[in-house]
Amino acid sequence: MVNHLVRLFYEEHGSGLPLVLIHGFPFNHTIWSEVIPELAKQARVIVPDLRGFGRSEAPPGVYTMRQMAADIAELLDALKIQKTTLVGHSMGGYVSLAFAQAYPDQMLALGMVASHAAADTPEKRADRYATAAEVLLQGPEVVARSMVPKLTSDRALQENIHRMILGTQPVGLIGALKGMAERIDSLPLLAAMKFPVMIIAGGSDQLVPLERAREMVARMPKAQMVVIPEAGHMPMLETPTKVAGALVDLCHEVKKIF
Ligand code: MLT
Repeated sequence: MVNHLVRLFYEEHGSGLPLVLIHGFPFNHTIWSEVIPELAKQARVIVPDLRGFGRSEAPPGVYTMRQMAADIAELLDALKIQKTTLVGHSMGGYVSLAFAQAYPDQMLALGMVASHAAADTPEKRADRYATAAEVLLQGPEVVARSMVPKLTSDRALQENIHRMILGTQPVGLIGALKGMAERIDSLPLLAAMKFPVMIIAGGSDQLVPLERAREMVARMPKAQMVVIPEAGHMPMLETPTKVAGALVDLCHEVKKIF
C-alpha cells in the first residue's frame, strides 16, 4: 500500500531530458558517481537515495517496490518532471519496473543494469526474511559479509562497498529485504512496454546471471542488450566508461523520439 511520504535525498546534474538513476540494494546514489559526468552532458540527471538508504529518511515497515516507485513519482512531481528515463541497478531495476507499471505515461525509456524481472523463488524469499531477522540482531555487517564477495572481484571496490553497506541503517535494510521478498513477477508486463528499453548485464555477475537478462529480451525483441563480459554485479563502478557509453546511446535514442 502506498501510504507514507518520506524525505528523499537526491542530487541533480546537467540539463536536458530527465534521466533518473536508481541504486540497488544495499547501496546509495554514490554508486553512479563515475558515470554521471558523461551522462550530465546529455541529460538532466537525477540521482536519489531510495527510502532507507544513503541520506534519505528510513521509516520502519516493508518497503514494497510499488512504495519506492511512488516515492520516485513524488520526487518527480516536486521537481515538475512529467516524463523521465529511468535506469535501475538491480533492486533499482525492480523499482523501475514497478514505476513503469504504475505510471506508464511518465516513461521516456527504461534501463535495467544487472537486474531482472522475475519474482523471488520460495527459497530466496525465505532467505531474505532470515537475513532481515539477523540484521535486526547483528546489524548491517551480516549483509556486507554475505554480499560483498559476490558483487565484484575488484578488491578496492569490495572495500568501498563494504564501508557503504556498514553505513546503512538496519531499518532500511530490513524494509527493503522484505519488500524484495514480496515483489511480483514483472516478466508478464514487459511485452506491453511501449518505450525504448536497454538491458545492461555483467558477463561475470554472480547475483544476476546472464540468463535473466536473456529472459527479459525474449519478451521484448526490440530491447537493446549490452553485455559487458568483464563486469560483475556492479558494472557502473567496475566498467563505468562502458556503462556511461551505453546509457549515452539510450539518451540519443530518447532524443530521436521525444
Ligand atoms: C541488488 O543489488 O539490488 C540486489 O542484489 C538485488 C537482490 O538481492 O535481488
